[in-house]
Amino acid sequence: MSLQEKTEKSVPLLIVMSIIVISFGALVEIIPLFFMKSTTEPIDGLMPYTAMQLTGRDIYVREGCNTCHSQMIRPFRAETERYGHYSLASEFVYDRPFLWGSKRTGPDLHRVGGRYSDEWHRIHLTNPRDVVPASIMPGFPWLAKNSVENSNIAEKMKTLRILGVPYTDKDISGASEKLKGKTEMDALIAYLQNLGTTIPLGR
Ligand code: HEC
Repeated sequence: MSLQEKTEKSVPLLIVMSIIVISFGALVEIIPLFFMKSTTEPIDGLMPYTAMQLTGRDIYVREGCNTCHSQMIRPFRAETERYGHYSLASEFVYDRPFLWGSKRTGPDLHRVGGRYSDEWHRIHLTNPRDVVPASIMPGFPWLAKNSVENSNIAEKMKTLRILGVPYTDKDISGASEKLKGKTEMDALIAYLQNLGTTIPLGR
């Protein structure tokens, strides 16, 4: 019996062979991404997150914002007309982990930075219905009450530096000073206002 015949007659063998073929295809697609400049090098002007933005990003994850909002504008007209320039891999090299997502209960947020005022965000995050009457987004009023002082921001930045984010010693030693007197709301807004602002194209 030829290997072909054997494979076609045995379900377990067919499964194993299929897995081998599919993983080969996946490797051919994935491995080059680790070596391509456009996916591994930061886009010109990309800055690592500041202490405030990085703290805000962690709050974004903690509150599950990424379960309703993607940060990945696809290169289609319907998307770029609505959200702005499509997302580039080189904009995410300091994101660990990235928050691309594909589930959009709310709009994509990759280029929301600068679209609204800080005050708009403050009202919207406290009770979305105050600015968007039909909104189904939940409110996050507690963010304005929680302080971000005493967080382990310096440790976080040190860890990210090990992973290749170019923080200087000064960035790290001055980090907790930057969070003095700030709330979780301030930090989250600092993060949102920075999103997608590295390339000003088409916004
Ligand atoms: C249950 C799903 C859900 C969750 C969780 C959620 N949102 Fe939303 N969000 C929405 C929906 C729906 C809208 C559109 C209506 C509106 O503007 O309120 C929206 C709108 C927004 C907008 C305005 C976007 C634009 O371009 O107009 C921002 C900013 C935003 N959300 C931020 C956040 C942040 C930050 C969090 C986490 C603290 C969060 N959202 C959590 C559903 C959600």
